[in-house]
Amino acid sequence: MMNQSKSEALFRRGMDVLVEGVSSASRGPATFGTHPRYMSHGEGQRLYDVDGNAYIDWMMAFGALPLGHGHPRIVETVSREIARGSHFATALEVEVEVAELLVKLLPHADKVRFANTGTEAAMAAFRLARGLTGRRKIIKFEGHYHGWWDPVIVNTNPMPPTMFGPKTNPIRIVDSAGVLEEMWLDTIVVPWNEVEMLERALEIHGRDTACVVTEGIMANMGVILPKPGYLNRVEQLCRQYGCLFYLDETVTGFRVAPGGCAELYGLKPDIVTYGKALGAGLPMAAITGPDHVMQGLEWGKVLHYGTHNAGRLTLSVTKTMLEVMLADDKANYKKLAYLGNRMADEIRRVAKGHNRHGVVVQGVNSMFQIFFTDKEEISDCRDFSAHVNRTKFRDFVLKLFEKGVYMSPSATLHSLSSIVHTEDDIAVTARAIGEVLEELP
Ligand SMILES: Cc1ncc(COP(=O)(O)O)c(C=O)c1O
Repeated sequence: MMNQSKSEALFRRGMDVLVEGVSSASRGPATFGTHPRYMSHGEGQRLYDVDGNAYIDWMMAFGALPLGHGHPRIVETVSREIARGSHFATALEVEVEVAELLVKLLPHADKVRFANTGTEAAMAAFRLARGLTGRRKIIKFEGHYHGWWDPVIVNTNPMPPTMFGPKTNPIRIVDSAGVLEEMWLDTIVVPWNEVEMLERALEIHGRDTACVVTEGIMANMGVILPKPGYLNRVEQLCRQYGCLFYLDETVTGFRVAPGGCAELYGLKPDIVTYGKALGAGLPMAAITGPDHVMQGLEWGKVLHYGTHNAGRLTLSVTKTMLEVMLADDKANYKKLAYLGNRMADEIRRVAKGHNRHGVVVQGVNSMFQIFFTDKEEISDCRDFSAHVNRTKFRDFVLKLFEKGVYMSPSATLHSLSSIVHTEDDIAVTARAIGEVLEELP
């Protein structure tokens, strides 16, 4: 067993002064079932804990680190720019430059508004949709997550199958105490990946619906792909009912492809929000869309403020991340996707020798997740809730830690490649997974 004495001691101290010893439940005992491992630093594709153990990091800060840890170009940018002032809350040249890069890269985007986190960007996007259309309702999908804001923190978790209600009229479950009913009364919840269910919901609510919001790839329950043509149909239906098609690319943007799922699936959304990868480790998010939508934010018609919006240091890092990823005809995007797909294939190969566990690997480009399941495919939140063994996944990941491989122990999250992972990391990880599958009861 790896020495974890310093992590254990920090956990005891942390529990005295921090809620659950951490700052987000996914990092603490609620997810680990025990104390988390306290990390001291990262280097490239590796994380090092306070006890001196090294791990190949496949979590990459939930997708925030396409360039891995301490990439020389990011270190150089931060070192240079911090000395010139991290944040002014004034207009900036780099703000214009990054927005120009985004508008050039993203066909749906005429304009950009910067924010700090995926949740914040989503809050502004929902307000924008309501403000522009004058309509109250938001349609969201079962199991999709759009940040922790009151109107959308509804049906975001796996649930016992008996709690879902009929597909044609799902029971709305609020995932937090303290959320007033009036905050989510206008949120309509629909099963994902089934066109008919959305058609039905729009027949009833379409004329009152400000936007239909969807993740392009469902990343809040592992990795669940949209069925062929599904998202295009969602887009068409939005046009038909005059509601906005809001694609939440917080996870997928600047990751699964330079232009995210909009590019992968040929979509023309009305609003897209980004976060995570865009900041390459610093908090950066963006709301984007065509002129006629983004104009809604002009002169504070639909209000969006923020002291920390468009920080100078953060934008400089975003600019560097984009330069590195887009150089040489987007070579690093090809590498990112290659490494993620290779890792997923290797896990599939190794798992074949351990059929008794029922391992299914779902992924696309740099994102993948391992499911312990009796099904051949997990295609929505109901499938995930009824057919994915989350406890087994946690046990599996905790054993992987012992072999120097780091993933999130939560089956609802997923793993990610960065451009600094190597073939050797893939081989070491595949071997470790094989060993753990052998050991796992
Ligand atoms: C699809 C999606 N939207 C929004 C968010 C919220 O982003 P943040 O955690 O930066 O507030 C997340 C976070 O995981 C997400 O996965």
